[in-house]
Amino acid sequence: MDRLAFLPPYLFSALDAAKRRRLAEGADIVDLGIGDPDQATPRVLVDTMIGALENGRNHRYPAQKGSLAFRGAVAAYMADRFGVAVDADTQVLALIGSKEGLGHLPLAFVCEGDNTLVPDLGYPVYGQATLLAGGDPRPFPLRADKGFLPDRRALESVTDARTRLVFLNYPHNPTGAVVGADFWNDMRDWAAGTGAVLVNDAAYLEVTLDGSRPVSMLAGADLAKERVIELHSLSKMFNMTGWRVGFAVGNAEVIGRLARVKESMDSGVFGAVQETAAFALGSRRQGLLAGVMGVYARRREVMLAALGKAGYEVFPGGATFYVWGKVPAGQTSMDFCRRALAEIDLVVTPGNGFGPGGEGWFRISLTAPDAAVAEGARRLEGWS
Ligand SMILES: Cc1ncc(COP(=O)(O)O)c(C=O)c1O
Repeated sequence: MDRLAFLPPYLFSALDAAKRRRLAEGADIVDLGIGDPDQATPRVLVDTMIGALENGRNHRYPAQKGSLAFRGAVAAYMADRFGVAVDADTQVLALIGSKEGLGHLPLAFVCEGDNTLVPDLGYPVYGQATLLAGGDPRPFPLRADKGFLPDRRALESVTDARTRLVFLNYPHNPTGAVVGADFWNDMRDWAAGTGAVLVNDAAYLEVTLDGSRPVSMLAGADLAKERVIELHSLSKMFNMTGWRVGFAVGNAEVIGRLARVKESMDSGVFGAVQETAAFALGSRRQGLLAGVMGVYARRREVMLAALGKAGYEVFPGGATFYVWGKVPAGQTSMDFCRRALAEIDLVVTPGNGFGPGGEGWFRISLTAPDAAVAEGARRLEGWS
């Protein structure tokens, strides 16, 4: 059996090739495709890292589950920010970015013939990691008329005794949809009756542009009983995508199983990165977050104003640094993005890259310099 053969084909190869061609021809491309912050990591974190590099203890293999200092900082953050009490020893695990945890989670729970539930539309890693573990990812729809929230009946119709993991992602990439405490209480109640582990990918939980503060799935959970896990990331919080650090928090049995998989796969997060991450989550956190997120609000305004003038419909998401726009009638997502590249040298992401449910939409990332976002907005406004 060739597991790689199960992976879906990469949808964007033709679009990527067209972009490379235009760049080689010297075109002035505005790239609002990928969600990777353009801003540098805050100076105080770089300085903390430089200090941590001087510490010889950090040159050795790191504490695999995360240093006590890192896990303590995570526990303090969860308590302070979300009112969630976690035991730093058994309910917290350092990750090499949240993607690493998401990628390994199915190996801890899924055997051949088992299935997981994955949002259509959503981040493709949940389904791909399930396939690599030998499982069957079952999509459940997220639709615009429901605010990109799952429908309980649709979820129930794909759940059975072999459903091991249910993946959710709020705040949601790519739509920016946000949920509140009632939603999480309902979902946790439902999941408890299924025997499956409920997973929230919380990579964008701190990426808000209007000062709002979305809640954690774990608020109000009984972590001793409920099989729930939430994966967090410092990537987008502090412009640290290249540093590779995040963490999982949740039920000790679930965390323990993921830790056992990781024991065979990696040797933890570089100690100096853990030291810096612990600092970032501490008392300076609010100021750092305000500085990082501050740039996106004005970029979003500029983009929304241009899209509004040009008559585009935009989903009013409450978080993430993406704008989720509707493709004009009569075109597919891919047609629209190909035309944007060919006619106005603008790269945006076709919605169907996040699953069939994203067809008819496109995603604009605000993680490019102000001037690039403004230029992209200008081009879209003047285009027909
Ligand atoms: C929804 C979602 N989850 C997880 C990740 C992975 O983030 P990281 O591995 O940098 O923590 C991303 C990255 O873009 C994402 O969009």
